[in-house]
Amino acid sequence: MKTLVIGATGTIGRAVAERLEPEHEVIRASRNSGTRVDLETPVSIDALFATVGTVDAVICCAAGGQLTPLASLPTTSSRSV
Ligand SMILES: NC(=O)c1ccc[n+]([C@@H]2O[C@H](COP(=O)([O-])OP(=O)(O)OC[C@H]3O[C@@H](n4cnc5c(N)ncnc54)[C@H](OP(=O)(O)O)[C@@H]3O)[C@@H](O)[C@H]2O)c1
Repeated sequence: MKTLVIGATGTIGRAVAERLEPEHEVIRASRNSGTRVDLETPVSIDALFATVGTVDAVICCAAGGQLTPLASLPTTSSRSV
């Protein structure tokens, strides 16, 4: 399968791409290397798909944000659900 992995330079994306590569055609995309895309910029996503063409699967492992120990997270409001 022709598979697009977005966030392929990250910890998770790199592992996913490496696992798929022996059996599939993998296109690696990320913000700063490989096939470029910035998911915060819609025109960039359009450009990505215009570049790679039709794919069989898209796996998105891209994201940002600091991982923080659970105990240090701020408490939320006391609203009951
Ligand atoms: N690693 C873990 O153990 C773990 C556990 C639980 C949850 N998570 C969550 O899973 C997600 C991915 O984790 P990770 O550890 O693989 O992160 P990471 O190593 O920081 O990699 C993030 C990937 O996303 C790409 N990226 C970030 N912002 C982007 C954007 N706006 N447009 C396009 N690509 C973008 C980065 O590309 P560039 O490098 O080119 O910017 C990079 O390839 C995060 O939300 C993280 O919180 C991770």
